[in-house]
Amino acid sequence: MQHVINKKQLTAVIEQSFDAEMAAQLKQQLAQQLISSTDMVHLFDKLVSTFHLTAHNNQLPQDLAKLKTLKQALFNQPDAPVSYPFLWDIAQHDYVQWNGIAANSGVGAIGRNSGEVMGVFATLDWQETDRSSLATWIGGQSKQNENGKLINFRSSIDVDNLRLLESQLAELTSPKWPETVLPKIDQQKAKLGKKLFNQHCQSCHQNIERDNPSRKIVAQMTQLDNIKTDRKMALNGATYQGKSGILEGIYLSTDVGNILIQEEAAVASILTSATKNVVATPDPDKWAPTRFFNWIYNLMVTAFDNTIKSSVKRGDYQPDTTQNPYASLLAYKARPLNGIWATAPYLHNGSVPSLYDLLLPKCEADNDIQTQCRPNQFTVGSRYYDPKKVGFISSGYLGFEFKTDKVANSNAGHNYATTQLSDPQRWQLVEYMKTL
Ligand code: HEC
Repeated sequence: MQHVINKKQLTAVIEQSFDAEMAAQLKQQLAQQLISSTDMVHLFDKLVSTFHLTAHNNQLPQDLAKLKTLKQALFNQPDAPVSYPFLWDIAQHDYVQWNGIAANSGVGAIGRNSGEVMGVFATLDWQETDRSSLATWIGGQSKQNENGKLINFRSSIDVDNLRLLESQLAELTSPKWPETVLPKIDQQKAKLGKKLFNQHCQSCHQNIERDNPSRKIVAQMTQLDNIKTDRKMALNGATYQGKSGILEGIYLSTDVGNILIQEEAAVASILTSATKNVVATPDPDKWAPTRFFNWIYNLMVTAFDNTIKSSVKRGDYQPDTTQNPYASLLAYKARPLNGIWATAPYLHNGSVPSLYDLLLPKCEADNDIQTQCRPNQFTVGSRYYDPKKVGFISSGYLGFEFKTDKVANSNAGHNYATTQLSDPQRWQLVEYMKTL
């Protein structure tokens, strides 16, 4: 969250990262209005250009190394990329994202979308102010913080459009296996597969009616120690800490009570608080009365039109505690598998190329050579579909090589039915999953 850090914290980080002479130069540049105290936008980018002005060319490699140290002090590594979760049924879920971090109840959908826009395009113009408003109250801000200031969370996020986008998304349903284009499903085989599915899979992957307008989807969590798929994404989400900067002093409600955001805080808290405040702040580009009306309207429609109410997460996970308010995030979500045929590669990190491969055990050094196992390396990027294994073609072309031995890329875990089933049974299950 480079947008959040304030000048005081940036100065402290500079002092830690550089020798006295360089730190003094950088701080001087900072003081000379290159970065004004109210300007919070892309502070780091500005620092980089400041740095280039300051650095002597002949010591550039050395300076770049220092810059890297500074970057590490300011940012958490984005080292656990995930496969894009499919978007149908999103509006009908109680919790979304692979680790179930985002509740859909109340104004959740707008909050979640605002968080996503912040991650990619939004410009944020957050400034300290003395004025309190309905927005600062909704956002959980109090004037009791360190400097007695409140923050105005103006941003380029168009909440109006996000609401429209979300209501359109609510009508999206999962695609059916297109028998006119792909080979016909063998119904006999699929029937046998259904039995296996009910036996081994349905306890976590609920069956839903794909086009029932009042369908509701309850996320079923499985904690990391039991699912055993790659832990990194969930761990980052639950444990990353960051500088809270201007958000310091805000109270944030969580399932176990209110948390006071301190100088160093959980990234999950900082992000939740930031999105909550952005949603609570009316769009600055509009004429004041329109702005106020739209804002109230968006919040009301999102909250009251939403049939998803706040509920407890289901499944197997550690509850949030006062000691670790984010313990429940150390788990992954199993969702209904309707439309799953169209969404390869599989698992949250996209580490398994096809449904058939997911039913094989992981390749270990002690695997018998006869045993088939999940590929430890495969090519991604093809649009050619493999209707047999159910996934995209994953070898024989120049694409991106996905290597499962890299950090966050493990294809281990989710061992359900991988060793108990015979090969013909695996194919029956695959056939059944085509019908979902
Ligand atoms: C104990 C709960 C549980 C059982 C039983 C279970 N799964 Fe899963 N499944 C999960 C979880 C949790 C995930 C997400 C894991 C991840 O992404 O790291 C998942 C992911 C998947 C995915 C990938 C989804 C995607 O969007 O990429 C498929 C396909 C799948 N399961 C199929 C099955 C099949 C087939 C069975 C039965 C043989 C089964 N599951 C049994 C919990 C379960």
